[in-house]
Amino acid sequence: MALLTIYHALDPILRKKAKAVENIDGELADLTRDMIETMYDAPGVGLAANQVGLPASFFVIDMGVEKDKRDPRVIINPTVVMSGEIEEGEEGCLSIPDIFASVKRHSLIELKGYDLDQNEIRIEADGFLSRAIQHEMEHLNGSLFWDNLGRSKRDILKRKFKKKLREK
Ligand code: NI
Repeated sequence: MALLTIYHALDPILRKKAKAVENIDGELADLTRDMIETMYDAPGVGLAANQVGLPASFFVIDMGVEKDKRDPRVIINPTVVMSGEIEEGEEGCLSIPDIFASVKRHSLIELKGYDLDQNEIRIEADGFLSRAIQHEMEHLNGSLFWDNLGRSKRDILKRKFKKKLREK
């Protein structure tokens, strides 16, 4: 087990579109174990592969986030269908530490993908979990939560973030 480096928002890797995973193997299992450890250490509730430097289509997420009980899952080659109302909610990102903003998301999602045993998985979610999954899907598309905001709001957050980086 090892903690991985989380790349920050201004690193070009965060803008890469993830490529489909072709081999679900032991190497991937090891990496996702480290990603789960890194996610909880940060602490956060989700982490996409490109955030740890690999532009491949998978993420880890804590499905127990609303139940106060850890339930980490690995979702490989995910697709998502969004539905329901548009809701605003506070969001942060491990690649943009200490910066939060209210983001509009769909209330419901249906997530499909594969687990490490190559079984197909299908998850329906609402509430904060739906939001977290949409956030991770966006990472795999090379987007970040602040891309959903108006330009002036985004620029303010970016300036704040750059300042924090300089202070480190
Ligand atoms: Ni994020």
